[in-house]
Amino acid sequence: MTSVPTVAPVPPVLDLTRLTRRYGSLTAVDDVSLRLPVGARHAVIGPNGAGKTTLLNLIAGTDRPDHGTIVLSGTDVTRKATARRSRLGIARSFQQPTVIPELTVLDNVVLAGWPHHPKRRGAWRSPSRLRSHTESAFRHLTTVGLADIAHRTASTLSHGQRRMLDLAAALAGEPRLLLLDEPAAGLTDGDIGRLLGILGGLPASVAIILVEHHVEVVAQLASTVTVLAAGRVLVTGPTQEALAHPEVRDVYHTGTKADMSPAPADQRG
Ligand SMILES: Nc1ncnc2c1ncn2[C@@H]1O[C@H](COP(=O)(O)OP(=O)(O)OP(=O)(O)O)[C@@H](O)[C@H]1O
Ligand SMILES: [Mg+2]
Repeated sequence: MTSVPTVAPVPPVLDLTRLTRRYGSLTAVDDVSLRLPVGARHAVIGPNGAGKTTLLNLIAGTDRPDHGTIVLSGTDVTRKATARRSRLGIARSFQQPTVIPELTVLDNVVLAGWPHHPKRRGAWRSPSRLRSHTESAFRHLTTVGLADIAHRTASTLSHGQRRMLDLAAALAGEPRLLLLDEPAAGLTDGDIGRLLGILGGLPASVAIILVEHHVEVVAQLASTVTVLAAGRVLVTGPTQEALAHPEVRDVYHTGTKADMSPAPADQRG
């Protein structure tokens, strides 16, 4: 009898189980479970204070859960340091872009990619390795449309350009999971269009968790959505179903504004 070779199943890129984070009497993230396949395009939405950034902090490792587990591509990273998670493939951009203003655009990306480069050791003394770092950085700047201004000092960039640089720095880690905290915040319509083009063009091997208030960005980029409210999962599912869910509509404006900002107190049910 011939044996048929079995192919090991690919583990989810991210598997969160019953994740909880309390700050004193406030439970910012409350019993959140979420499983995302490789290459997922997932959005996390919810009103201000819903726990979205805290959830990203827990996944990235800048904050620790009181309860629950975080498994990245089959590896339990719940107790692993941020730098280790980053080397395992988690990258993020922040609600406020975190570029180093004194450095050039290019150097920001070279620096961000440094810990991830396979030939980083001794690279300062090796012109070819240094060149390979620089070429990688240029590739990411080209992806986000900043290659033409690679040698400008980052402090001279517009808000939109800083956001793109923040994204290039996150991509420099060659992530398998990219965490984006409100990447469209403060962008012009033109910049949002460019951002959608860039994110939509990332390879399928890069999973994205997008925290975003702009519903059109969520609708265009995400195939699945989790809605958080007061730290808890209200709904998880395909984007259109989740956005149309009656409980989700209750916590947001119901008007025509293409924006998921929380409803003012007098408009909430
Ligand atoms: N380090 C902290 N210490 C105490 N409370 C915190 C801390 N970080 C967050 N919180 C609280 O946890 C809750 C969730 O905050 P979080 O920043 O995760 O919300 P969010 O959904 O990202 O909101 P926004 O849409 O305004 O960015 C809020 O009530 C916030 O005040
Ligand atoms: Mg936030």
